[in-house]
Amino acid sequence: MIFSPTGGLSYHLRAFRYKRNLWSPFISQVHSEIQSWKSPGKALLLIGPNAGYSLPLSYLSQWEKIEVLEPDPIARFFLKKKLGLFSYNSRDFFFDLEDESMDYQIVHLFEEYSDYDWIFCNFLGQLQSLYPESKKEIHPHWIKTFQDLLLKKNHWFSYHDLFSAPQKPKIEAIDSQKFISYDDFIRRVYSTERETLYINDHQTWKLFEPFPLEERRWASWEIHPAYTHIIEFRHG
Ligand SMILES: C[S@@+](CC[C@H](N)C(=O)[O-])C[C@H]1O[C@@H](n2cnc3c(N)ncnc32)[C@H](O)[C@@H]1O
Repeated sequence: MIFSPTGGLSYHLRAFRYKRNLWSPFISQVHSEIQSWKSPGKALLLIGPNAGYSLPLSYLSQWEKIEVLEPDPIARFFLKKKLGLFSYNSRDFFFDLEDESMDYQIVHLFEEYSDYDWIFCNFLGQLQSLYPESKKEIHPHWIKTFQDLLLKKNHWFSYHDLFSAPQKPKIEAIDSQKFISYDDFIRRVYSTERETLYINDHQTWKLFEPFPLEERRWASWEIHPAYTHIIEFRHG
């Protein structure tokens, strides 16, 4: 996990370099979105928080108990220093996603943490990277199971990658409260047709399709000077 497509050592080095400058507008937006998500629970589950680079750590201390799903030991070491006590669950609820029979993993996740408030910390847009190279699409059966479980759950928050590209997006070109189709979104945000662009689709558009549009918001995150992510905020 020191070398990982979803984080690893290179992510820590990048955070060290950009957290205080290039990433700062994005981080401020994550803080204000999480702080305006009102959640009454006592226990919190963080999924993929890394070392908490983008999280409002002092705000999180209002939860009496925090548990973390994060396979990167360096990330956990730094997060523990910043957050104080938390428990870490070493089970991987997101492995073998390509195998239909592995849906029970997420069923288990929803059962085990049913009393917790959840924050998916820029994790759901990385699901495609957890797949083998040959299988770029997240299994439709897995998506359906995940959606059904999340639709029934109260008190969750997710910020996740929607698209990423070398081009800078114009997210202010879209009214986030109104319905917009996938193609229109790309055309308006990138001011050009899909076919003429290199875009990485993180597959979260279809993951969140059955969820209400109200209160979804977007941020752009310049992860390095030549590459920008569009991040979506959703909660329930
Ligand atoms: C893009 S990074 C998130 C960065 C972090 N939330 C932040 O904002 O700085 C994705 C994180 O997901 C973690 N991750 C990868 N596989 C995971 C799994 N199966 N379960 C939980 N977390 C996982 C990675 O170690 C990494 O820290």
